[in-house]
Amino acid sequence: MISKEKSIRAARWRLYLPNTIAWLATIFSVWERLLPVIIERAPPYKIGMQLRWDEKASFAQIAAIAAQIDATGFCRIDGFISRDELMPLVSIAESAVDRAKGEYIAFSGPDAFTGTVWARMISSPPLRFLCESLYGHAHPENMPKAGFYQIFRCLKGQSSRKHSFYFHFDSYVVTIILPIVIPQSGSAGNLIMFPAIRPIRRTYLRNVIDKLFSDLFPMQLFYRMRAGAPRSGAISIRMEPGSAVLFWGYRSLHTNEPCDPDKLRATALLHFGNPHRGASASRLRRR
Ligand SMILES: [Fe+2]
Repeated sequence: MISKEKSIRAARWRLYLPNTIAWLATIFSVWERLLPVIIERAPPYKIGMQLRWDEKASFAQIAAIAAQIDATGFCRIDGFISRDELMPLVSIAESAVDRAKGEYIAFSGPDAFTGTVWARMISSPPLRFLCESLYGHAHPENMPKAGFYQIFRCLKGQSSRKHSFYFHFDSYVVTIILPIVIPQSGSAGNLIMFPAIRPIRRTYLRNVIDKLFSDLFPMQLFYRMRAGAPRSGAISIRMEPGSAVLFWGYRSLHTNEPCDPDKLRATALLHFGNPHRGASASRLRRR
């Protein structure tokens, strides 16, 4: 009798569990599609900050950029790279995606970009000065000696969804995003961010615990649900090619919205200042 009840219960589970999972998956998928519409938009940028990547920032400009990041979570700088500097990067992104059969591709480092502004940036004294000054504002101790860590990401095709909505903290204090190609229709692949929600951790271990915790699948689902809720503190930032978006990547939980599969979204990411640079394992988890 008991075994018959057990088998009935097992049969019910076998019937209901797949349906429940399918319903939950549908609800999350609908929510993900709604998220770009309902999430709070970042207010229009009004300060009118203008600075080129190869121009040395004044102390007043650096203070204004840091204050803007502290106040709103990010700072947008217009005219950071010119149209002439941008176009070769657009061509590289388009041909790389073509070679990848219209799917996601990413590059770390400057090797594939010889002769472009992206390759010149890593040895730019003005850019280094800007990043060191911002790092000093965010974390006055422990000035980093290492240089930049660069990633160039091209999202397109069905695989682009897999590389979107992944909320994470960077390993580096200062993050600069250079939008290279942004879709002009449909979803623009906005940057979504919970600004500065964690301090700079004293130990590398504490930093790893944060990262492992935020990587958990239930937490990723929670962040996606939370980002669309009213007064969640999350902001969505639309980006324009030629400008730069600066924020505290280490302290801010962030991700990008997916774009339509037939649209290309290319961004160049410049990271500076790993506060746990002495920890050997940090090389294993660079994002
Ligand atoms: Fe990041």
